[in-house]
Amino acid sequence: TKGVTTIDPGYKNTGSCESAITFLNGEEGILRYRGYSIEELAEKADFLEVAYLLIFGELPNTDQLEKFHADIKKNSHVDEDVKKIVDGFPKSAHPMGVLSSLTSALIAFNPSSVNVDSEEEMYNAIVRILGKFPVLTAWAHRKRAGLPLEYGDDSLGYVENFLKMMFKSPSGEYVSNPVITEAMDKLLILHADHEQNCSTSTVRIVGSSHAGLFASISAGISALWGPLHGGANQAVIEMLEGIKEDGGDTKKYMAKAKDKSDPFRLMGFGHRVYKNFDPRARIIKKAADEVLNDLGVDDPVLDIAKGLEKEALEDQYFVDRKLYPNVDFYSGIIYRSLGIPVEMFTAMFALGRLPGWIAQWREMRLRKEPIGRPRQIYIGETHRPFKDIEYR
Ligand code: SDX
Repeated sequence: TKGVTTIDPGYKNTGSCESAITFLNGEEGILRYRGYSIEELAEKADFLEVAYLLIFGELPNTDQLEKFHADIKKNSHVDEDVKKIVDGFPKSAHPMGVLSSLTSALIAFNPSSVNVDSEEEMYNAIVRILGKFPVLTAWAHRKRAGLPLEYGDDSLGYVENFLKMMFKSPSGEYVSNPVITEAMDKLLILHADHEQNCSTSTVRIVGSSHAGLFASISAGISALWGPLHGGANQAVIEMLEGIKEDGGDTKKYMAKAKDKSDPFRLMGFGHRVYKNFDPRARIIKKAADEVLNDLGVDDPVLDIAKGLEKEALEDQYFVDRKLYPNVDFYSGIIYRSLGIPVEMFTAMFALGRLPGWIAQWREMRLRKEPIGRPRQIYIGETHRPFKDIEYR
């Protein structure tokens, strides 16, 4: 309504754009990328196919997929000087802070990817960030692990090459395990896009000033870092570990989560849109059983997680507030079984969400959306004259 400003904290009831990329139905737990159900894509597609689908709108044919992967490989070298920036971080630096910094630093090494207006320039910036981001992510891990910052083997698939970059030994050994590659591929697909969530809205609004793709992605990484958003997958494991250390007393933590005076929340539960189950959580929970079984891993926190879920689904407080496990509740259990350190969990979310951020940025730019600039309702002081310091 023209001229009237209504305030909508957290934009709970505000639509920011029209988009053809992802469809969510929170009541029925439906998630589709460009019309394809997440269940089918997780089962039948691989991550690079899904990245292509999200960004360009159609599943690629063989030639299109091969060219896309080839263009990404051609752009997967990171300037050696970036290693000097990585060296500057303490080992204790959180990977999400390292990644948002390095992604922004990439601008200096790829100046032609800044002010892109044509579809061709956008494509070049897109394959650059898709080529370089897995390298930066692996280097963020290798820095923490005291391992040399090296590449993988780009004769492998996109995800397997990433895993090799993450885990190859100083002497270059990496034993590929199809169970791990397949699980990682599925997790990345399930995280690839989620319409106008906090980090995607951040990418859109930064991109709306024409700051460029890399700067917008860097901002999205920072938004995803928060424990209320992507950072929840790390917080879930830390919470489950805490409950295990505390004797597995889930009832005590359920009570804390319901106690308004206690800031503790059941991490991995609740969602702004899903007021029923999160379809991704359902797929990940099933995959967690399969992957841990295939890898012969027995992780006691999986049982604690299932116990918490069961209690919450029967608890009136949670039922009244429609609080169900979300994508972050079980994902960390799989990441851990794949050998990924807990501090890297949210970086895995970022790697998965990268194609979604790119797709949403590209759609926003192609649709020539205006710069994001909301209004406010002023609640501060009325006009008052200046007061010299001797009278303050
Ligand atoms: C992601 O948006 C997306 O799509 C995000 C995401 C994506 O793919 O991009 O799906 C990924 O971020 C998943 C969410 C990960 N975050 C967490 O698991 C953190 C814990 N969850 C909550 O902080 C919360 O549920 C949010 C942030 C997810 C949603 O917050 P809302 O929609 O602002 O809901 P709210 O904070 O207003 O809570 C509504 C009520 C409140 O109680 P009342 O004041 O009504 O009495 O539910 C309670 C809250 O106190 N509540 C919880 C709770 N989540 C909400 N109580 C205990 N534990 C929780 N986890």
